[in-house]
Amino acid sequence: MSINYGSDALAAAAASAAAKSVAGNATTDQLMAPRDVNAQVTVPNATDLSTDYLGLKLRNPVVASAGPLAQTVDSIKTLETSGVGAVVMHSLFEEQLRYESEQIVKQTEEQSESFAEALSYFPVTAISSVGATLSSQYLKVLEDAAKALEIPLIGSLNGANNGTWTREARRMQDAGASAIELNIYLVPGDTEMTGREVEERHVEILRAVKDVVSIPVAVKLSPYFSNFGEMATSLCEAGADGLVMFNRFLQPDIDVNKREVVSGFELSQPDIGRLPRTWAAVLRGKVKSSLALSGGVETRDDIVKGLLAGADVVMTTSALVRHGAGYAARLVDGVRDYLRRSDMTLDQLRGLLAVPADASASEYERSGYVSAIEKAKRRYGV
Ligand SMILES: Cc1cc2nc3c(=O)[nH]c(=O)nc-3n(C[C@H](O)[C@H](O)[C@H](O)COP(=O)(O)O)c2cc1C
Repeated sequence: MSINYGSDALAAAAASAAAKSVAGNATTDQLMAPRDVNAQVTVPNATDLSTDYLGLKLRNPVVASAGPLAQTVDSIKTLETSGVGAVVMHSLFEEQLRYESEQIVKQTEEQSESFAEALSYFPVTAISSVGATLSSQYLKVLEDAAKALEIPLIGSLNGANNGTWTREARRMQDAGASAIELNIYLVPGDTEMTGREVEERHVEILRAVKDVVSIPVAVKLSPYFSNFGEMATSLCEAGADGLVMFNRFLQPDIDVNKREVVSGFELSQPDIGRLPRTWAAVLRGKVKSSLALSGGVETRDDIVKGLLAGADVVMTTSALVRHGAGYAARLVDGVRDYLRRSDMTLDQLRGLLAVPADASASEYERSGYVSAIEKAKRRYGV
């Protein structure tokens, strides 16, 4: 079952984040104690954090991932002021675009009936006036924000099927997006669809987007493939300029009292950062595309871990929603402070703990697994 972020959830999260920004990075649903969140880090600005992502020059590797803080020009600008290296806008969804086109067809048909003759003179006007809805609003925010920002602004397009929705990427480019993040959120509910078909669908959607834009395209996807490494390689060969690992698969829960499926939406916890880091460590040096990690960043250590594993950039949404956009400054300062104390450059840090190029990733991961199980047995055994 595919769950999309409902507009209520987005609005609630955005309102909560805005309130926290005003309140000064504190208040509710925090993983860190307020004193830790608010503690000042004074770090000299000298350490170079500049980063290449998708061929774009970023001032640092901390990126605000798609989410509720990237919905308005003001909130996007606030993210820039707080110090992030780039911002990914919230997504425009295939379903929204499809709904829009259906409405356009419906309205055109209705109008055709009543104003058949007149409409035949103005079909394009009729369509574009209806189209001035979700996608137009999105593009307007993108255009205004891109003009107002000095850092790259990445448009996000989210879908799972082949279709005309992918052409919206071109409009994002024309509106000023520095790159496209193509979120392929495909949960194969059709039990007859083969694994290969699922993989091919990803590549086809990417190709459709690449065909209409000249700006870089990153693919955000799930880790659930027989061999994620092969999927990653195929996408890179098909032209993906970057991989964003991973989509958060929102598994619904069950309310036993109401005997209902509930699609509760929660902010993420740091533990989900382990899987993306594992894949960054495997893919570092093996694919040419940029590697971005998304999921589970709460502190500067989570960002440092991502970089050590081999990520080019580390993204964060939940932490910024929890603590307010200004928290990004603390994360960026934290990374700079870590490098200064370790007497390392960002390049020296990046990929330091990736799977070595000459090692078999399968054996590497398996030996880690066996030793972890042995350690756990010693710890929990009777
Ligand atoms: C309230 C909320 C809204 C989100 N909206 C989007 C979205 O529009 N498009 C998208 O690709 N990801 C969206 N995400 C997912 C985030 O970009 C990110 O991948 C995920 O939350 C994991 O990162 P985190 O642990 O830093 O939150 C959203 C996340 C949250 C919390």
